[in-house]
Amino acid sequence: MFDLSSVDLLDAFTRELTLCKVKEDEHVVILAEPGSRGDYVAAAFGAAKSLGAHVIAATVPGGSPAPMPSTHTGAGPGLTSVLNDTTAQDLLKSADLVVDLTQEGFIHAPVQQEILRAGTRIIFVCDAPDVLVRNLPQEGDKARVLQGADLLKCSSVMRVTSDAGTDLTVQLKNAHPEFQVGFADDPGRWDHWPSTMVLCWPEFSDGQLVLAEGDILLPFKEYVRAPVTLQIADGHIEKVSGGAEAQLLQTFFEDAGDQWGRSLSHMGWGLMKSADWFATAMYGKGDLMGMDARAFAGNFLWSTGPHPFLGRESYAHLDIAMRGCTVSVDGTDVVVDGRLIDS
Ligand SMILES: [Fe+2]
Repeated sequence: MFDLSSVDLLDAFTRELTLCKVKEDEHVVILAEPGSRGDYVAAAFGAAKSLGAHVIAATVPGGSPAPMPSTHTGAGPGLTSVLNDTTAQDLLKSADLVVDLTQEGFIHAPVQQEILRAGTRIIFVCDAPDVLVRNLPQEGDKARVLQGADLLKCSSVMRVTSDAGTDLTVQLKNAHPEFQVGFADDPGRWDHWPSTMVLCWPEFSDGQLVLAEGDILLPFKEYVRAPVTLQIADGHIEKVSGGAEAQLLQTFFEDAGDQWGRSLSHMGWGLMKSADWFATAMYGKGDLMGMDARAFAGNFLWSTGPHPFLGRESYAHLDIAMRGCTVSVDGTDVVVDGRLIDS
């Protein structure tokens, strides 16, 4: 018997770490928990070593502070074992690059900001092997996402419409435009392989979002079967109506018992042309976080719950990926009927 899965991934991880600008004599820490993929740890270890970096593979106990299963949800609450251990945090702060192979990552854990402030770069990886390989980023993707983020920075209003009935007006003042590009190349940068998206964190939006059949609900990794209408006022979901998925969302909000559960969080559009909308249907839920859905070129992605710029700490994080929308920023169309306008 033999297992070549890590060797099979070595080339992809080496290309990824090269995009993360890993240099000779840099310090790479691979962070894992017992539930992490061993082949990813081995592939990242080999890739860092082949680039001449010092490498440490650190495995810490599993367990999250979030009151939900650690099934690659995207809530990013971090691991309790790291949140409670300054020695582990110091190791991560001392690294040039952390390859985060934990099941949930730390994106919404404030400690991640501390680690990034130390200058550490973090790349988070947890989707299935062929999802990583198919969506391996390219250096030129950065110019594409920066263009979108720059447009948001100098604009006042984003408008989202669709034939299904969506009509949302988003105020961009103090909305902190950002991007994800799939590699962490600058000091203090976090990113996620794979991802290519433009996003922002608005406070105020008004109108309605209408989810159409085939839109994707995350972290449930389910397709919408019957339209769902969400009435939005001042960035809060006031009313949810529709079929089975409307009931699902309503129950999620009630069960979460979270004061920010119905508040809108990040939103933006996807630019990942290699993404596959059917990935959600083709893999086991434990195999994916769902970056194909989140970053699909021409989608409109919006979310609920945590909002770091408004001091809202919340585990009740939904990401909802919609197709067929038109996204317009101060009158410039960036997505038309679900098609990315990529100039
Ligand atoms: Fe999210």
